[in-house]
Amino acid sequence: MSSAPVSVLFVCLGNICRSPLAEGVFLAAAESRGLGSRFEAESAGTAAYHSGEPPDPRTTAVAARHGVHLTSIARQATRRDFERFDLIVAMDRSNRRSLERLRGHRPRPGAARIVMMRDYDPAPGDPDVPDPYYGGADGFERVYRIVERCCEGLLDELDDGSG
Ligand code: 4NP
Repeated sequence: MSSAPVSVLFVCLGNICRSPLAEGVFLAAAESRGLGSRFEAESAGTAAYHSGEPPDPRTTAVAARHGVHLTSIARQATRRDFERFDLIVAMDRSNRRSLERLRGHRPRPGAARIVMMRDYDPAPGDPDVPDPYYGGADGFERVYRIVERCCEGLLDELDDGSG
């Protein structure tokens, strides 16, 4: 029996560095596990500064180096995302606070759960995926490795149904 795909929204601040990378890496990892039809993913930013733009060229480059092609266009997260998605994955604690404000104190029944990306890190440490925007290329490589580990950890959880 087939059921509706699990839908995941990855959220950072600008939606041009961390969350589009997470979206692309998550979908590629699901595909390589043969689970492509079981999951849907998008990404969004808590801010609108970069709405309408493709990912930062440094994000596109690090993804390409690891064989991941990014296609998303930046947009700001909205209240409706809590109805459209099953799970909303915040990249850092500031993103989570912004999402909680957007959702309000009394979420509708069935509203998406907000979780932290690094809750799924098999090598936990810092609770945040660091923002690489103001740093150099090494920061983007570091973010890639964190995002990749967390996407695999998230898929492990979602795949055994405990989400
Ligand atoms: P992101 O990184 O939240 O991972 O997309 C940033 C992108 C842009 C800005 C900050 C962080 N900015 O200030 O424009």
